[in-house]
Amino acid sequence: MSYLSEYTESIEHPETFWAEKADDLPWYRPPQTILSRDENGIDRWFADGEMNTAYMALDYHIEQGRGDQAAVIYDSPVTETRLTLSYSELRDQVARFAGVLRQQGVERGDRVIIYMPMVPEALVAMLAVARLGAVHSVVFGGFSSRELAVRIEDAEPKVVVSASCGVEVKRIVEYKPMLDEALRLSTHKSLRSVVLQRPEAPAQLIDGQDIDWKDAMAAAEPADCVPVKGTDPLYVLYTSGTTGKPKGVQRDNGGHAVALKYSMKAIYDMSPGDVFWAASDVGWVVGHSYIVYAPLLAGCTTVVYEGKPVRTPDAGAFWRVCADYRVKVLFAAPTAFRAIIKEDAQALEFGKYDTSALQTIFMAGERLDPPTYEWTVEKTGKTVVDHWWQTETGWAICGNLMGIEAKPTKPGSSTLPMPGYDIRILDAEGHQLPPGEQGSIAIKLPLPPSCLATLWRDFARFRDGYLSDVPGYYTTGDGGYMDEEGYVFIMGRTDDVINVAGHRLSTGEMEEIVAAHPAVAECVVIGLKDPIKGQAPTGLVILKDGIEVDEKLLEQELIAMVRKQIGPIACFNHALVVQRLPKTRSGKILRKLIRQIADGEEYAVPSTIDDVESLSDIESTMRLHGLQGPAAVGHEEKRP
Ligand code: COA
Ligand code: AMP
Repeated sequence: MSYLSEYTESIEHPETFWAEKADDLPWYRPPQTILSRDENGIDRWFADGEMNTAYMALDYHIEQGRGDQAAVIYDSPVTETRLTLSYSELRDQVARFAGVLRQQGVERGDRVIIYMPMVPEALVAMLAVARLGAVHSVVFGGFSSRELAVRIEDAEPKVVVSASCGVEVKRIVEYKPMLDEALRLSTHKSLRSVVLQRPEAPAQLIDGQDIDWKDAMAAAEPADCVPVKGTDPLYVLYTSGTTGKPKGVQRDNGGHAVALKYSMKAIYDMSPGDVFWAASDVGWVVGHSYIVYAPLLAGCTTVVYEGKPVRTPDAGAFWRVCADYRVKVLFAAPTAFRAIIKEDAQALEFGKYDTSALQTIFMAGERLDPPTYEWTVEKTGKTVVDHWWQTETGWAICGNLMGIEAKPTKPGSSTLPMPGYDIRILDAEGHQLPPGEQGSIAIKLPLPPSCLATLWRDFARFRDGYLSDVPGYYTTGDGGYMDEEGYVFIMGRTDDVINVAGHRLSTGEMEEIVAAHPAVAECVVIGLKDPIKGQAPTGLVILKDGIEVDEKLLEQELIAMVRKQIGPIACFNHALVVQRLPKTRSGKILRKLIRQIADGEEYAVPSTIDDVESLSDIESTMRLHGLQGPAAVGHEEKRP
């Protein structure tokens, strides 16, 4: 089979293409209707199929004789723990925890928030929610109590599942006080929390609110799988938009299972029994799809790693894990590799381990910059594949079908559109651009299975944010171009979303927080190039008239405010006072221009600028703080 025949079939005959892929899964009642329209006029996949994702991921494999195979390998250098759970053991824990949730009144369609570190119990909780036909919403542990509260308020869960603490490189992060604070802040009240006590920092449980995970598991009756429809939601995952309110991306059960199962063979070339390691976190979409669901749907073994690429204990951590568990595919963010390069540029650590089982290294979360790509290929000798995707899609939009036909890779490109994605590069008027010309990247409808059909309880925001720019197209929010051979080059976001260490963050949200400081009259937050994290948020602030402050002190206060309100993961570490900000005559801040100046890029002064001298002010302030110039490791290659 070739890439071209597979792709063409998916675009010309989407219903037959995806019906065939759906046949590869054990439905309770296979779908008769493959593609239909919902009440909002949105395309939906497998609406009348009946299924349960947890059954497909666990029980089915046990029925097929895989019960004793490892389902999860937990490796935690930060707590010096290793643990393997077979499919049978994992299913039994999941069924029992489903019983715990049911005792708390969780039924089909109810929401459960999961706020946990990278421990196997996080997967148990997710799969238990799926087993009940309920809807999970995982909140990344690096988010603050305020962010957790916002999600509790929007999702209105019956239960929150958490742990007493997470373990970071230099410190123990106590989750329980953050959970308590979030419950205090939220107006959605009277919910129960199940807390996993960890020996590193056990929490004080509150009578009438908290349930101890271990005690509840010991007392619970296992619960069976609850059948759901293909279009019933499996989870809601909040992601950053351009405002302070996160967007609840809603994922269907059916399309998700079909696309993920297909991707494991087609994209990653994985077979049942192979070991897959996505070095991400269950709080992100990569973690949902490729730590939890896809490897298990495909009967593989998944690695759950509680550690970092460096400092736990050294830059050989990735290679040690690959060797110890004979990992076949490693999936990580380029930022992780840049961190490794910084500490072990000669890849001396790589040579210490037997990584012969490792076939392919996949990267995503941000653009794989050519120097990082080239280092990884040269030093590891492995095939390296960049693939582009979003929380909204749940799987790759562009990539390389390693299980069908591996195409040659091109540095800087995430290769070719994946089956089901009809990608077009459009200009501002919605006209298609020729090869080599940069524009906004859109996907012609229908979107393939797994992609969102709405935002949680906010269809209008989904329609306005994604479908309104050009009728018949989904706007990705990314810009880039296609070359003559159809290779796609993603060049960055076209909105105010930035990408920090492979994490998507909203500058708009940070601006709202910074602007609330009593000394600040106006501010802008931009993502500046960073050699490790890709981008680093930096604030530029104008003080209110007549206010005098110690600028260093103000910076510390603003950093603390963002850290408290978003969380440490925001990585907001710079705030500079400027006299003015470049704006258009209509008052719009020229963010792109500021970023270009700060990154030392060439820029054209727009004719609509109101105050040309503001540019030299920005330039000198940046220089004064050592922030100006192309700091990042190789982001400046030329377009072909
Ligand atoms: N719970 C609580 N705090 C967390 C956390 C969690 N789950 N994850 C990160 N944090 C904290 C960190 O401790 C750090 O806090 P600090 O400012 O007090 O040191 C802050 O959030 C920033 O974390 P991080 O971005 O991880 O920075 P780092 O300097 O600790 O590590 C890298 C740098 C490059 C090693 C790291 O960012 C990394 O591994 N990135 C890969 C990201 C990834 O997998 N993305 C998924 C997309 S595929
Ligand atoms: P998230 O929803 O957090 O996964 O972030 C999605 C965004 O990350 C995309 O819209 C892109 O801007 C960026 N992104 C993810 N993967 C890639 C990639 N391989 N190349 C370029 N950008 C990427």
